[in-house]
Amino acid sequence: MKIAVIGGAGYIGSHTVRELLDRGHTVKVFDNLSSGLRQNLFAEAEFVEGDILSEKAISDFLNDFSPEGVVHLAAFKAAGESMLLPEKYSVNNITGSLNILNAAVSAGVKYFVFSSSAATYGAPKYMPVDENHPTEPENYYGYTKLSIEGFLGWYSKLKNLRFAALRYFNAAGYDVNGRITGLEKNPANLIPVVMEALTGKRKELLVFGDDYDTHDGTGVRDYIHVNDLARGHAEAFEYLERENKDLIVNLGVSQGTSVLDIIRAAEKASGKKVPYRIVERRPGDPASLVANPNKAFELLGWKAKYSDIDTIIETTWRAYQANL
Ligand code: WQD
Repeated sequence: MKIAVIGGAGYIGSHTVRELLDRGHTVKVFDNLSSGLRQNLFAEAEFVEGDILSEKAISDFLNDFSPEGVVHLAAFKAAGESMLLPEKYSVNNITGSLNILNAAVSAGVKYFVFSSSAATYGAPKYMPVDENHPTEPENYYGYTKLSIEGFLGWYSKLKNLRFAALRYFNAAGYDVNGRITGLEKNPANLIPVVMEALTGKRKELLVFGDDYDTHDGTGVRDYIHVNDLARGHAEAFEYLERENKDLIVNLGVSQGTSVLDIIRAAEKASGKKVPYRIVERRPGDPASLVANPNKAFELLGWKAKYSDIDTIIETTWRAYQANL
């Protein structure tokens, strides 16, 4: 299949491009390099630099390529920032996504795979979280993802654009074959911040609270290796082509890991102490957020292969060392 990956120079985007290429798809990448990196690009996938905020740029790209499939991973994802700058998230995440959707319709695209998020659920009412859980996002970032899922439902009904919305839990790790090593600029997520503390790029990790109702008091999350995540995108296309039905699934591994568990794994992998300090809780953080991935397993045949914490941490540490 010909597949356009919008945001394909990014962290998850580049791993998804690699997976699609490995499966023999013809891939082209559209990215504005605002957070994506040229070093994450592959020679086998033609790259077009452009912005999803330019209706002309995105429709020229899709009309020239005329792919059967589109993967959309071009969004801002900092939950905290979205509460301070909702206008930035409205324009980039919502207007940008509508530009892609309209361009996809005009270019006759059939299958649309969308990078959604566990943030669509908001604070968990039960655990593990399955796709029937209420969707009451607690931050504007999560709301933008949920609203785009709503547009996708309408475009499927009105324009026959089949979609799969993949609700990521905590994406982490780096390519197990070491083919991708681009580091996120100014990360906010836990594992890259731990790596920056280990490599001296930042003085210390601030642990946002150790008084949660979890096994060791620190926040528990469901970390999914980015190779497993990328495979979920490829299997979503296979599902859409085979079943011609829409899909909304969680991609997580239903394994809860705490901040202190991550710190210990990072110290084991690096042989160094992680400098950290316990501080106040971060507003909006739930104590624990863990996925029920059974629907993805049943419908896609998807299951995690690399999402054990040691593989996640060891592959991340290797990528950070490659950049020293
Ligand atoms: C993980 C744990 C923090 C940083 C966010 C988005 C979500 C998704 C994944 C895109 C929590 C703790 C973190 C730090 C810390 N993104 N932490 N010190 O908040 O679970 O989810 O990223 O889809 O939508 O909201 O990820 O990595 O920020 O936090 O103690 O410097 O680590 O409190 O318990 P989060 P995170």
